[in-house]
Amino acid sequence: MHFGGIVNSCFYLCRMLKETLINATEAGARVLQHFFNNKNLQVSHKEGINNLVTEADHASEKAILDTIEESFPDHFILSEEVGEIVMDSQYKWIIDPIDGTINFAHGIPLCCVSIGLEHNGKMIMGAVFNPFLKELFYAEKGKGSFLNSEKISVSSERQVIKACLVTGFPYTYLDSPNGPLESFDRFIRAGIPVRRLGSAAIDLCWVAAGRFDGFYEHKLNAWDSAAGFLIVEEAGGRVTDYKGDYYSPYQPHILATNGHIHDEMLRWINNTR
Ligand code: IPD
Ligand code: CA
Ligand code: CA
Repeated sequence: MHFGGIVNSCFYLCRMLKETLINATEAGARVLQHFFNNKNLQVSHKEGINNLVTEADHASEKAILDTIEESFPDHFILSEEVGEIVMDSQYKWIIDPIDGTINFAHGIPLCCVSIGLEHNGKMIMGAVFNPFLKELFYAEKGKGSFLNSEKISVSSERQVIKACLVTGFPYTYLDSPNGPLESFDRFIRAGIPVRRLGSAAIDLCWVAAGRFDGFYEHKLNAWDSAAGFLIVEEAGGRVTDYKGDYYSPYQPHILATNGHIHDEMLRWINNTR
């Protein structure tokens, strides 16, 4: 039947997209494990003295791209190190081959592979894998978020003053009014714990898992947040820019919370309490 045919082809395509997403994430993660704690790791610098790129970033990216291109050679790619591979496609893979490169280069096992998949400009799937903690986070639009196949959900904290937060700082400091240090200062002076793990993708997944109540950062790129923001939303959380508007990974600001503390967090960050 015609209708059944459409449903089936969507079912098979979605299954293939998910399989490819997980396989690509795992292929990248195997590269991270291979190079981890390698004393001879080749490191070079991007803009800013501590903005590193290692041979593992490039090798992870290659393993991921090879996996995706094997199944979907005509899909659009946006990946941190190679940039855009422009294709006339409804699908776009957004890839961070290592999120937490500074941690990785120092043998700190808080780093991951992060891949989000957009369809017609909407994020439909995301996966984040930290192979050192053996934590694979996965979300699919409308189907929830999972950590190693177990459904996860955000925390229930309702007050910022009792919250446990996490943030990150850009490599090149933003010397703008009400920048990252000003909001950090407000939380710390109020005695609110604010952690800094060094991987935005992990920060987001840990909000989704209820470990943190909120995450904010002033300057991210699409590959840092593409998978993680869907994982937070599908775990029942809320993700916006600093105006409280619908989140787009193509602008710099992000606030991701359990939802309950979101509006109050916006007032803390914007200093409008
Ligand atoms: C960085 C991490 C870090 C965040 C930076 C990102 P990278 O990504 O996510 O937590 O604070 O803004 O650039 O360079 O390790 O892929
Ligand atoms: Ca990153
Ligand atoms: Ca990276």
